[in-house]
Amino acid sequence: MALFSKKMAAQTEVDFSRLPRHIAIIMDGNGRWAKKRGLPRTAGHAAGAETFRTIATYCKDIGLDYLTVYAFSSENWKRPEEEVGAIMGLLKKYLLEAIAQMERDRVKMEFFGDLSPLTPELRELCERTREISRHYEGCQVNICLNYGGRDELVRAARAFAQDCIDGKADPNHLTVDRFGGYLYSQGVPDPDLVIRTSGELRLSNFLLWQAAYSEFYITDVLWPDFSKEELHRAIAAYQSRDRRFGGV
Ligand code: FPP
Repeated sequence: MALFSKKMAAQTEVDFSRLPRHIAIIMDGNGRWAKKRGLPRTAGHAAGAETFRTIATYCKDIGLDYLTVYAFSSENWKRPEEEVGAIMGLLKKYLLEAIAQMERDRVKMEFFGDLSPLTPELRELCERTREISRHYEGCQVNICLNYGGRDELVRAARAFAQDCIDGKADPNHLTVDRFGGYLYSQGVPDPDLVIRTSGELRLSNFLLWQAAYSEFYITDVLWPDFSKEELHRAIAAYQSRDRRFGGV
């Protein structure tokens, strides 16, 4: 296990009265999980989608306020067509199920990313889930879809510049908080904890602005094998950290 000490690894006791408000997850390792079993990569993504369901439901049940997951990056289009199609198919399946259960679960769904290159059907499903759940007060699940952190920042800068041209904003009055209002994540607090599975020590263009002061938890566990117990270890590690936000 990388990046955290034996002391932290040993501590798995979670204090549920002190949960992080917002957990963000880079769900990595689906391909390796499949390869280890002699299966096609798409089988890894299907298993990963199941894990996502389990973890999202559990996060709602324990009362987490926000969960953000990296489902498809703006760079993932470079993957074989069949694999991209399989991931989009899994998303469609998930959204259809989510819509059917929305009244019961009251999970609020949001999407971070440029949805315009998605199929009209998938875009419509995203819009519908967002619309139905707009007023729900349960856990908010943000699915990053065709998302890239740099792209998000450039879009925000462009939108701000346009507001300046239109006389709606003034460069001299730009603050960190105001700039945050131009991001996909507007209104959502920054992630307290970022989890990455499969042992990679990279941010991979995920929440570049929002993760400025996030605590990181990296585990060697591949995403399809990620469990509630591993989530507990991540939260316990987070709870053992001393967050100083640049102070002493
Ligand atoms: C990274 O593993 C995973 C992805 C790029 C796709 C994540 C998609 C899902 C979990 C399924 C659909 C999601 C939802 C929300 C229903 P990788 O393929 O890069 O793994 P590797 O590094 O082992 O090759």
